Amino acid sequence: MKTVLVTGGLGFIGSHTTVELLARGYRVLVADNLANTRREVLDGIASIAGIRPTWANVDLADPVACRSFLAGHPDLAGIIHFAAHKAVGESVQKPLAYYRNNFGSLLNLLEFTAEHPRCGLIFSSSCTVYGQADQLPVCEDAPIKPAESPYGNTKQVGEEILRDVAKAHGFRAIALRYFNPIGAHPSAKIGELPLGVPQNLVPFITQSAAGLRAGLKVFGNDYATRDGTAVRDYIHVVDVALAHIDALERLFAGKGSEAVEVFNLGTGTGSTVLEVIAAFERATGKKLQWDFAPRRPGDVVAAYADTNKAAAELGWRAERSLDQCMADAWRWQQTLPGR
Ligand code: UD1
Repeated sequence: MKTVLVTGGLGFIGSHTTVELLARGYRVLVADNLANTRREVLDGIASIAGIRPTWANVDLADPVACRSFLAGHPDLAGIIHFAAHKAVGESVQKPLAYYRNNFGSLLNLLEFTAEHPRCGLIFSSSCTVYGQADQLPVCEDAPIKPAESPYGNTKQVGEEILRDVAKAHGFRAIALRYFNPIGAHPSAKIGELPLGVPQNLVPFITQSAAGLRAGLKVFGNDYATRDGTAVRDYIHVVDVALAHIDALERLFAGKGSEAVEVFNLGTGTGSTVLEVIAAFERATGKKLQWDFAPRRPGDVVAAYADTNKAAAELGWRAERSLDQCMADAWRWQQTLPGR
């Protein structure tokens, strides 16, 4: 039985990936310092999977703590590294905290993989590295645009660090560039737990429908798109989770020639904000109240993935529809306190 370390394994994507790893028979070790989640997520994972993964409350950005934690697990077959700060706006306010945390944890994990080159590493990257792409759908070899935020920069530079270190030390890694992961586990036992006012569209929608927030705003109605609102590639979190296992197994099988491969994780289909609202209303039967508001600074007009590389090399495609994303996100929202 192979052991896989999932950092940030109690977070949104990490928890869903942990569930799928357990379902495929991996032994899972979760490292999560609860910076942006809650320990009850472990109960949700255990309830779905029927197995409780081992959890370590460790700050991986702390070099001493990280080293001593990893020293107890020299036999790791792979690491899936989710643990990172991810709020774009906050990163502009607190760049030092973002750089210290996101680079610190990555560097500390790379110290380990440099010494254990048989341990494969999966890195959480983002479509934010493309900025406003010149061509859509955007493929993996599209130019990287200057980062709009310190958060985005941690993804761009993180990929570069990964490439340099993997080449120098002879280990393999895969960077997965997520488009817009949404939804929740269909069991409604795990999902997204945004703390405070959600900045992302779908959590804001579900909280609005639950009566927890007023004032859903659609940012911008004058974009050059089919209905004037911005286009994104929304992808079900379970599809995203499954791609991580395919990526890890690609490393285990020794496939691919580059030290670090990069794959887009999207559906290939763009949806406008108004289409997302319509999908939510259709999937849940709930009517949303919303208004148009000015464009949100830093937003791109449109982003959706070319999915051919992931399909050809990973054998992975997103299978869940936007309506299923909405139904699952809503079912999850209804389990949350204060609903
Ligand atoms: C954002 C980040 C991205 C990050 C991702 C996950 C930016 C520019 N990008 O993606 O780097 O990886 O979150 O955290 O911040 N919208 C509304 N009303 C709302 C909220 C959003 O109309 O209340 C619109 C946005 O303007 C956008 C779309 O909905 O057009 C999606 O927004 P959001 O869910 O925040 O994701 P991104 O901005 O695409």
